[in-house]
Amino acid sequence: MTKYLFEELPYSGWGSSWVLKPGAVPNDFLRNAGHESGSFLKRSGNRPRVSQRLAFLLCAALLLSAILWVSMPAPVGQAGAPIPAGASGPNPPRGIHLSFLDDPTNAVITWHTVSAATSRAEWGTSPGPDYPFSVSGTDYSSPGGSLLHAATLTGLAPGETYYYRVGDAGMTSWFDGASFRSAPPRGVAQPFVFVAAGKFGNSATSAATAAAMGAANPNLAIPLGDLYYTSQQSSVRGVWEKFQAFGEKAFVMAAVGNHDYNEPSLLDHCAFVNQPGNERTYAFTYGNVFFLGVDWGLFVNDTLDGADGTGGLCGGAPGNDAIRAWIDARLAEANANPDIWWKVAFHHFPCYLTDYDKNRSLCVDGSGNPDQVEDIYVARGVDLVLSGHAHTYGRTYPVKFNNRVQDGSLYISPGAPVYTNLGTGGPARTDACRTEPYIAVCRGPIPTNGYGKFSVSENEIAFEYIENTEGLLDSFVLRKPYDYSVSVDPDRLTLLRSETGQSRVSILGRSPDPVALTVAGCPPDTTCTVSPASGTAPYTSTLTIATGSSAPFGTWPMTITGTNSTVSRTVPFSLQIASHATRTFTKGDGGAYSETDDTYVYSGLPTQNYGTNVQLLVDGSGCIAAGSVCKTLIKFPLIVGPSAGQIPAGSTIVNATLELNIRNAGTTADAYQVTEAWTESGATWNSFATPGFPGNRGLEFTFLPTALGLI
Ligand SMILES: [Fe+2]
Repeated sequence: MTKYLFEELPYSGWGSSWVLKPGAVPNDFLRNAGHESGSFLKRSGNRPRVSQRLAFLLCAALLLSAILWVSMPAPVGQAGAPIPAGASGPNPPRGIHLSFLDDPTNAVITWHTVSAATSRAEWGTSPGPDYPFSVSGTDYSSPGGSLLHAATLTGLAPGETYYYRVGDAGMTSWFDGASFRSAPPRGVAQPFVFVAAGKFGNSATSAATAAAMGAANPNLAIPLGDLYYTSQQSSVRGVWEKFQAFGEKAFVMAAVGNHDYNEPSLLDHCAFVNQPGNERTYAFTYGNVFFLGVDWGLFVNDTLDGADGTGGLCGGAPGNDAIRAWIDARLAEANANPDIWWKVAFHHFPCYLTDYDKNRSLCVDGSGNPDQVEDIYVARGVDLVLSGHAHTYGRTYPVKFNNRVQDGSLYISPGAPVYTNLGTGGPARTDACRTEPYIAVCRGPIPTNGYGKFSVSENEIAFEYIENTEGLLDSFVLRKPYDYSVSVDPDRLTLLRSETGQSRVSILGRSPDPVALTVAGCPPDTTCTVSPASGTAPYTSTLTIATGSSAPFGTWPMTITGTNSTVSRTVPFSLQIASHATRTFTKGDGGAYSETDDTYVYSGLPTQNYGTNVQLLVDGSGCIAAGSVCKTLIKFPLIVGPSAGQIPAGSTIVNATLELNIRNAGTTADAYQVTEAWTESGATWNSFATPGFPGNRGLEFTFLPTALGLI
């Protein structure tokens, strides 16, 4: 397979000899052998990790690192780097950025220092210091020797504004003065802003873009790969120092670009970011938005590179098959959560291109590649796809498989993603535009720098592309109208006259205002009510139908309607009013009226009650002792009454069936309807007026318990 390598910008002046080396990138990385014993591995749950099988490598690497360390000048290249506003002390934190590990109660703050330092973070809900909360950080080194620190803020209240300070353990050097808003609870819609751009580098242009992104006061920031373009650690740190413009206030969730594989290295990239999972391909949910970041690898048309979301830090299984399976499963999970309304995929390589700058993509857009992911995005309902490989701004209309499905700038539930190319973080490059009908905007021929801004509310995402000098260049709105449905279970009832029945009404989905319920078609001499009669969707209500003594027999079609200020939704319901109906009451079925009282009386112990016995004895002679008699009493005390499911008082019971489980066969048994009062816990042989002979209407019927089992 031909692998399409890159023809990058000559970012001369800060790039030393950068060389791209195609080939496999190890998925199981030795982190880094830093100079601080015990801190050479990146934080994992705040504990350094090292696998046993790598231990000897680490030892060797430590030794090598130590040699390098003593031979190197001060940690490279911070001389002259400006101290960020809000920082103070001899060794202040730099490149401060937040990241989100898919837990709204946590936030990670990462920074670097020029000299070795301990680390600590303090925070609270009002500006400090003093701050009420604090935690020690983890100190580690990037493979290139940058001195990194990460502190995890825990116990955050979702959706709350927090102020913080980071520095060394004694706070002799610190950074203070920034704040951020913790993530909303998963599934809870909360308006927020995220910004995105790719292709930065350590240049004045990227600084301008980062500053503009920060000025937008985002809650999330998504660098779309190709972040460094350098193997010099000083320039890598310089990029993060520029990113601080947004990173100190927003969760930075980066995509891996092809240049990030080798300039400086994936290991360096993974050292600087702190993201969920393996940090290359990962997913997280922010409020009601599901985000999916994907590392498609070093080559856009290589189906064997990249990484899925499995494995440890900076790991993952390579190849399109693994990536596709992983992201398809994550998107399916997102779709199973009704509280997630939006799905945003972001990765460095584009799925649709708008110009010819990078003439390869992940979708079948005429650039010659096979479809690597569009089928999944369409099938799973992805709303937005962000990329940053092409050095331009451009975007599509909602499109699937080259077919534009909506045009204009307001897209209402289009059922296809909008693809944005945002590779405009650093120095620009130009090329001719494509002309396919699905292309909404192409800035290919015009040098363009800037970022995309996405303002998210529960059912709308408003997009703006803001160029660094020209300002607003493009905008569109994605909207998913609120909608709801009404369902009822059961959807039919059969009632007698003077009877009450109930059914459960569910209002599912979303509505911007309350949904009121009404019932139409209620028969004469019948009341049909829903309670509650209004609510904020989703909610449940109860339909109660009470027939009067002269309610007309027959089948009555009814309609239950939910209505808000703009739309009504209905569900049919059927009521049958019958002269007779069948009711079943079974002991142990959990029904409200299935209570069964049963006991037996025994002539041998005429004052003994057997109400708690699980077996009922019937025997006319020799029941337990010779010559003794047992008689069984059974009644259903709650089946008659006014509630739903009971037999209305005054009803004529036309037919009744009593089922008994015969455990010990016998001869003819007689059944009587008892008219004398008794209780399960009080009945004895002697408790009746005539001992052993409860008052009755005479013999009703006989039966033959000659076979075991139900009779
Ligand atoms: Fe790229």
